[in-house]
Amino acid sequence: MSRGTILVVDDEPNILRTVKTALRVEGYDTDTASTGNAALERLQSRAYDLALLDVQLPEVNGLEVLRRVRAQGLDVPVIVMSGHGTIEMALQATRLGARDFLEKPLSTDRLLLAIGNALEVARLKGELQELKEAAGPAAALLGDSAVMRELRDRVRLAASASAPVLVTGERGTGKELVARAIHDGSKRASHTMEKLNCAAVPHDLIESELFGHEAGAFTGAVRERKGKFERASGSTLFLDEVGDMPQPMQAKLLRVLQEGEVERVGGARTLKVDVRIVAATNRDLAADVAAGRFRADLYYRLNVVPIHIPPLRMRRDDVELLVGAFLPASCRANDRAPKTMTRAAVTLLARHAFPGNVRELKNLIERLVILTPDEAITEEDVRMALPAVAGATSTARDGTWAPGIGWHKLMETAERDLVLRALDHFKGNATHAARDLGLERSHFYKKMRALGIKRPGAHDAHDAPDADDGDDDENA
Ligand SMILES: Nc1ncnc2c1ncn2[C@@H]1O[C@H](COP(=O)(O)OP(=O)(O)OP(=O)(O)O)[C@@H](O)[C@H]1O
Ligand SMILES: [Mg+2]
Repeated sequence: MSRGTILVVDDEPNILRTVKTALRVEGYDTDTASTGNAALERLQSRAYDLALLDVQLPEVNGLEVLRRVRAQGLDVPVIVMSGHGTIEMALQATRLGARDFLEKPLSTDRLLLAIGNALEVARLKGELQELKEAAGPAAALLGDSAVMRELRDRVRLAASASAPVLVTGERGTGKELVARAIHDGSKRASHTMEKLNCAAVPHDLIESELFGHEAGAFTGAVRERKGKFERASGSTLFLDEVGDMPQPMQAKLLRVLQEGEVERVGGARTLKVDVRIVAATNRDLAADVAAGRFRADLYYRLNVVPIHIPPLRMRRDDVELLVGAFLPASCRANDRAPKTMTRAAVTLLARHAFPGNVRELKNLIERLVILTPDEAITEEDVRMALPAVAGATSTARDGTWAPGIGWHKLMETAERDLVLRALDHFKGNATHAARDLGLERSHFYKKMRALGIKRPGAHDAHDAPDADDGDDDENA
């Protein structure tokens, strides 16, 4: 197996020949060029593992070749060699990004050592890059849907700036995760992100929480205390549930954001702070502004970079990937042997509306991991764990007789099970399910209504309705 392909550039044929032979013996593939222009052409057209570059070359000299290669953004490792080397030349080569500088006549040992080192450095750099990409701040945001990929790009862009970000999305969509990713990807990442949940702090304490207080500022303020703003200086302040911030505080917050200075409660001094604000809310802040519940000027100040996370039911493609991540993590966290989930189970899950979004899915997986004794989590296990879809009563869930259940209850359970299974099989298409059961479609709908069964996903207003939706109210 080849250890890599090396471009050898020299205008002396016998040097090309000897170097080629020495490299081939060591298991490297080689290519050669004898002018600067030929070298440039080769380097642009092929991804070499390394280039060995002589300085004295016809047309364009070796250092100029190196400069142009770097200017084009090519980062092939280069070793420069020269028969008339000066320290000045070696320095220049290094400045241009050469890995090593070799004097001619070349010693084969020295050459091979330099090549081995340069390739090793390149390999490590590649690995590091891969690790960085894999573990990058936005990488915590799982999801392969187009929306999630776009979201990650946006998070990266927001991270590289300092402007305020407003993260919006339903509960459990990952707003805090996004805020952390922005902080972790920013130049402020070496400081800890401060967080204030505006909905969780009593209104009369928010001011002191945010801006701090001097000793004796109010009853109970025994000692001076730094506020979140002061502590977040040089870092990020995450204002969670910002829509719940009381009106008087909105005005004060706006002033701090405009002036970059805070004043502790009961204090006379102003303190300069350098804080990046990431705010989040699951409310429709624009509507709150329109209704006069939230200050418009503060809204615009916070909403410089808007990041909206769509609900999970709008990106059902992500469910499978999230299950793939949460399942093993949940097994590990709960000391369970690794479990799998059947295809049908994942399909059923993906059709759930998830009003609690990713958090609901995560908790659901955890429940399934704890409660399912078998290695494989099946459709039936999921159906049991999803009351909204299954609509099942806990008694006689499997439709078998037990003392005291009674005929009607038993029949109802059996019917519900039958209808759900048929719907499930036909992906929620009631027309197909009815036809398969040999029932009039209207009769089937009536049954569904009587059993209180919504078609899976039917509570999702954003999904395109089936063609047969319009007949919902038809009578039998
Ligand atoms: N895209 C995602 N990839 C992986 N985990 C996610 C993702 N989105 C959310 N989570 C996980 O779901 C849970 C809820 O996320 P988070 O607390 O960030 O949501 P939130 O929008 O702030 O919720 P709330 O509105 O209830 O405060 C967390 O455990 C988080 O790690
Ligand atoms: Mg949150």
